[in-house]
Order: sequence, then C-alpha cells, then structure tokens
Amino acid sequence: MTAAKHILAIDQGTTSTRCIVFDGAGAPVATAQREFEQHYPAPGWVEHDPEDIWRDTLATAREAIAQSGVGAAGIAAIGITNQRETVVVWDRATGVPIHNAIVWQDRRTAETCAALKAQGHEEMVRAKTGLLLDPYFSGTKLAWMLDHVEGARARAEKGELAFGTIDCFLLWRLTGGKVHATDATNASRTLLFDIHAQRWDEELCALIGVPMALLPEVHDNSHHFGDTAPDLLGAAIPIAGMAGDQQAALFGQACFEPGMAKSTYGTGCFMLLNTGEEAVRSENRLLTTSAYRLDGRTTYALEGSIFVAGAAIKWLRDGIGVIARASETDSLATRVPDSHGVYMVPAFVGLGAPHWDPDARGAIFGLTLGATAAHLARAALEAVVYQTRDLLTAMVEDGGAKPTVMRVDGGMAANDWLCQFLADLLEVEVERPAHLEITALGAAFLAGLCVGAWKDLDALAATRAAGRRFKPGMDADLRRQLIAGWEDALSRTLRHP
Ligand code: G3P
Repeated sequence: MTAAKHILAIDQGTTSTRCIVFDGAGAPVATAQREFEQHYPAPGWVEHDPEDIWRDTLATAREAIAQSGVGAAGIAAIGITNQRETVVVWDRATGVPIHNAIVWQDRRTAETCAALKAQGHEEMVRAKTGLLLDPYFSGTKLAWMLDHVEGARARAEKGELAFGTIDCFLLWRLTGGKVHATDATNASRTLLFDIHAQRWDEELCALIGVPMALLPEVHDNSHHFGDTAPDLLGAAIPIAGMAGDQQAALFGQACFEPGMAKSTYGTGCFMLLNTGEEAVRSENRLLTTSAYRLDGRTTYALEGSIFVAGAAIKWLRDGIGVIARASETDSLATRVPDSHGVYMVPAFVGLGAPHWDPDARGAIFGLTLGATAAHLARAALEAVVYQTRDLLTAMVEDGGAKPTVMRVDGGMAANDWLCQFLADLLEVEVERPAHLEITALGAAFLAGLCVGAWKDLDALAATRAAGRRFKPGMDADLRRQLIAGWEDALSRTLRHP
C-alpha cells in the first residue's frame, strides 16, 4: 500500500456511529463517533430513525477524513460494517424510509416466530439459513413492517420499495440511490438467504411473507459495490468492502484459519469460531453463518450471540442512574473484591444463544442490604463473562476443539479486570490486540483487499499489532462456586428452559 492511500471504515453500531481512517499499516489515524437516540415504543420493542443514522454517518465520515489530513482524494476506498439484522424499508423513488428501522434487539415478532415453530418450519429454516426461528433475525421484522404500514405490502409487490439492513441502506444513500446491494454476511442474517446455495430463497420468502422484489443483490464481502456520490464526501470514493459487524471483527482479528475464535464486546457480545469451508450444524442451538465470502468462496462460522453486554452498562447509566459515565463501571467494579453474591441476568430483550428464550426478562438475584452500586456494576460485568463461558461450552460440545486462544475486542475489552476474569472462567488464554477498533479494521481490510491496498490474507495478518495476553489463574473451587451461582440465577430467569 502506498503511504498516501488510506481506507475509511464506517462502523454503524447499535448505539453509535463511528468512522475511522486507517493507514497502510492498519493503524487508526483519525476517529469520529456519535451516539444516537434509541426508541422504545413498547416493552421489548427497539427502533432507530434511519435519518439519524444517515446524518451521523455523513458527519462522522466527513470529520474523520478532515482529521486524517489526507483529504477525500487520499482515501483509496471505504469499507462499511454495521449492526446486523436491523431492518430498513424505503421508497425506491424518493429514498425515504417508510417506518423507523426495527432493531435486531426488537422482540415484536416473538409470537410470529413461535407460530412458525409450532407449525413445524424450524427444521427447514435451520437447514437452509443456519439460523433459528427467533425475532432476532430480519425476516419477520420486515414482514411486520409490510403488514403494519398502510399500503406497504402492495407497494412492495409492485417493486416500489426496497429492503436493506443498515449496510445496504447506507450504500444506497452513499451512492446517491444508484446501488441496491448487500453482502453475503448481512444477507445470511435475514432468514431469507440460503447460506449453502448463497442466494435468496423463494420458499423462505414465501413462508415469511416477503416479496422478492424488495431484496437487494448479494455480493462478496470484498467487492466494488459502487462509488460515493462526489458531493457527499468531496470525491467519488469506491465502496469496496461490506460485512456485518461481527463477521468484520472476525476478519479484523485475522481469524482466517478453522479453529480460530473471537469474542466482541459491544452492545451485545458475539463469539464466532471459524469453521472453514464447512458449514457446521450446531446441536447446541448456536448459529451457522457466513463468516466471509471472497472470490465466490464462502468461509463459515459457528456463532454464539449474547444480546446484552455493553447494553447492561448503558442501562446502569441511562435506565437507573447508578453510574454517570460508562467508564465509571470499571473502577466501581474493581473497588469491591467480589459481587457480594449479586448476580445479574441481563435478559432485557430475552436471551440469545444457547437458550433462545425471547420471553425471558432481566433479573437481579442475591440482593442484601449490603449490596451497593459497585456490586451491581460488578455483577453486570461478570454476567457478560458467564454468558461467554456458556457459549464456549456449547461450541465445544458441538465438537469444536476448544480454541487455545480467545481473541477479544470491542469497548469492554479495554478493561483488564474483565479480560482476566474471562481467561479465568473460560480457562483459555485471552488475547487483546493493541487497537480495539477491530470491527472497523475488518471492514477496512475487506475494502483494502479489493482495491489492492493489501495483497492477500497473509498481508492482513502481518499488520496485527501485538497486544496483551491474559492467562487463566483462578482457583478451581472458586470458579466452580461462581459458575454454580450463575447457573442458579439463570435457571430462575428462563421462561422456556
Ligand atoms: O447482531 C447484532 C450485532 O451485529 C450488533 O452488534 O456491536 O452493535 O453489539 P453491536
């Protein structure tokens, strides 16, 4: 890569939008970030205003380019990565969304999913998509929108509307409405895409009630999707990489070999294990998903999805005001030697893998008069680790060898205590890279590969900056005791054990 060529990554997450410019060594040289408003119109419902997302994307992209000092002409390509499964539907003629985006965390289609399951459709859905019938995925949310916005279904059938996850919506807007496309990883989260055949599936679309005229084209993750409309960022920049954020993190962590795993701590926590060209079917209710598709060849992953990680800290701050800033959690939690018997099961939006219990709700157990805000903060952090352990156990039971190293990233991974507790509970070494913005880096890698900024996967892996390793060291009795407490709390929270 020539020194003058930089890559801009757009990382559109659940609670914030971030743009980062990376240099040829894979180091971040400029970052701009904005948090945006969450809408909770009913219990269990979560929405975003797509216009907020667009406004922040544009603003942070402009800010990051300005900060980088290289100007739009110095940006070789753009990579987009995004909160997955979140649904936007817009008018093809005007580009205006017909409804707020329905967010991946939203549970409004739980009954629809339960009915489809009761009718015996889950097996077919699993076989084709690698997913389960859970409101988490895009398909039933999309059908809900068509059924609840006046006239939408008829307009969809006539081809007047377009559906996209956030990657696709941003691509549409960035190209001035010229390109309606998504990538193989985002498509694999919709319930409408056959991950083996790598195409939209007629039978699935009919089952879920989605007219195929709404759907975008699906491309490899490293692909020239289109160019930005020149007036937006100051030049026509190729958009050359796209991937769902968890797959982008796997790629950014350079987990290119089967058996390599990563765990990302953002709003939720998502553990992905590279399984190579084999789409491994889980016996423990993990997901089978496209990890990345390059030159038409798909690499698959097993995924464990935890819906609430950083979101529990946000709740401590915004929901009940126990802390003023998210960063306080770390010092609060480490101020106390343990959680004082307090366990938080953060089932705020139900529980994901391996339980898939959309009706479970958050609970706190073990409160005594001695419990303090510090114990609550500690319990929130510990819950993230206990859940990660549950995922790893399920993956190992699925026949995967236990990874020798777990690569971690995302904001919460900056916390040394959390990484150590993770190593202790998982009983594997935890490796944290020098830069934590791995999701954005993955998107930059994909875009850079396409425009020749990096030659191949080896060149990407070679940019990996040495970070810090945490070795397991906890006393086995203490570990057993802590896990027993968690399992007790969990069993009391599940609605459909
Ligand atoms: O599947 C949802 C996931 O993509 C959200 O990621 O980073 O916003 O927790 P994040």
